[in-house]
Amino acid sequence: MTDNINRLKDKDNPTETEKKHIPVIEGPSMMTAGGTYEVKVSVGIEPHVMEEDHYIEWIDLYLADQKIGRMDLGPSAEKAEATFNVTPQEELIGATEFQVCHIRGVNVCGDCGLTSVITDFKAIESCNVHGLWESSMEVEVMSSKQKPGKKCSWKA
Ligand SMILES: [Fe+2]
Repeated sequence: MTDNINRLKDKDNPTETEKKHIPVIEGPSMMTAGGTYEVKVSVGIEPHVMEEDHYIEWIDLYLADQKIGRMDLGPSAEKAEATFNVTPQEELIGATEFQVCHIRGVNVCGDCGLTSVITDFKAIESCNVHGLWESSMEVEVMSSKQKPGKKCSWKA
């Protein structure tokens, strides 16, 4: 992807343009593989206008760099926001090296069999005047597969 995408530079001190364009992602902080979850993306911290000559063209949502979908908007759309249904797949957990024990938070403990991956949602929106804007939000995806009869054996 060419990197002409704008991001929030200082989250404690957003500029007026950033406030109107940064995608705001509202979604779960934890999901279980196979479940379906609703994720809402709105533009931005202060709502972006939807007018004839200045509007949000579309909003894309990704999970772990896999595209979930695109909502096409335009000057006639009422609000600069989109809602997506996300169903994380089990493969997401096996596919990455960042497996963590649910209880310990770091590394696989090897016994409880509950694994997860910490990844992120990424939203990109396109303003017809101000270009592309991106933000992300961390999310943990839990495996739905547990090894029966095993419990986490880590002691604090
Ligand atoms: Fe704009």
